[in-house]
Amino acid sequence: MMNDWAGLPATYGDVLRRAMDSLFHTFENFSEGTFIVDAEARVVWINKRYAARFGFADPEQAIGRDCEAVIPNSLMREVVKTGKPILLDILETDREPLVVTRLPLKDDAGETVGAVGFALFDELKALTPLFSHYSRVQEELIATRQSLAQARRAKYTFGSFVGTSTASLEVKRQARRAAQLESPVLLLGETGTGKELLAHAIHGGSARANQPLVTVNVAAIPDTLLEVEFFGAAPGAYTGADRKGRVGKFELANGGTLFLDEIGDMPLPLQGKLLRVLQDKEFEPLGSNRIVRADVRIIAATSADLPALVAAGRFRADLFYRMNVLMIHAPPLRERASDIEALAYAMLEDLSRQVRGGSHYELQDDALRLLCSYG
Ligand SMILES: Nc1ncnc2c1ncn2[C@@H]1O[C@H](COP(=O)(O)OP(=O)(O)OP(=O)(O)O)[C@@H](O)[C@H]1O
Ligand SMILES: [Mg+2]
Repeated sequence: MMNDWAGLPATYGDVLRRAMDSLFHTFENFSEGTFIVDAEARVVWINKRYAARFGFADPEQAIGRDCEAVIPNSLMREVVKTGKPILLDILETDREPLVVTRLPLKDDAGETVGAVGFALFDELKALTPLFSHYSRVQEELIATRQSLAQARRAKYTFGSFVGTSTASLEVKRQARRAAQLESPVLLLGETGTGKELLAHAIHGGSARANQPLVTVNVAAIPDTLLEVEFFGAAPGAYTGADRKGRVGKFELANGGTLFLDEIGDMPLPLQGKLLRVLQDKEFEPLGSNRIVRADVRIIAATSADLPALVAAGRFRADLFYRMNVLMIHAPPLRERASDIEALAYAMLEDLSRQVRGGSHYELQDDALRLLCSYG
């Protein structure tokens, strides 16, 4: 029988070697770049074209350097460490992104001794449909992250808390102090006394200001959904669950502040879970085997009489004491009547701003007098 490999050495090993040789040369010729690193992820070989693309006129200049120092964002170190290939990936560069393949190099004993990387294309034309999809997803992700970051920033500052009465100055002083500290804050006070405003201001004035402020309004969410709202759920973890699962507010607030509004309405079983998370600083989303570490500062607020709820057995005493490290009492307006005039003008300003076209409102003297006689 004629040997298809006529003229070639016919042993299995030789054929394999020849195949590997041409494979390498084909890739090397047709790719935009090829480079090889050793077991420490240092460049041991790089072709001229690739070296030039990353600013090395002579490939020799790149030899011996860490792969990331030659090719920023290179993942060759990971390949060397894990011994596993990254068959197809997109490498972001300061010019066009590259489509790359990374393969480990093994010795006869199967030990990883280095890795070889090929930049398959820099013209992404061949991959246009895939790539435009990728770019679109990437853009959407950036936009979503930005709008989320916007939504999760504090909306109010200490300046938004209007009032120069003794009671107002004292509450602002306490809140400013709370902003300097890391302990939980408990905001008590009747409805409309500005607890939410203070929570925002405390977060915004704290070292966590650039991290998210995430709010859970305990009273607005049905008891059965609260646990998932707090801790999240793995895909398909509960009936009617999102197919994709759900990230809990605790995880979203990681590094930042979690504002628990109307905490007095929290059902007892969840109070127990919350207490455990505050103690352990970690939790498992529903139905997942994943441990999430939560570095979260808690600010809680309620208009309920929390000590009375504790006395009645409707709020856990241990959770109350855990939250009650810095207690701030937002005084009702009747205890700071001297703020009424300033508040009235601040609200008028707000109203004027909300009306399109910029309407102008004025407060007549007798109206102001009527307001100030409240209390
Ligand atoms: N001192 C203040 N200066 C300026 N605006 C204030 C002040 N106090 C309250 N407000 C405004 O009054 C409204 C109610 O305040 P906020 O929502 O913070 O109250 P709350 O204590 O959270 O009330 P609730 O218990 O009903 O949730 C908001 O529009 C807030 O901006
Ligand atoms: Mg509120």
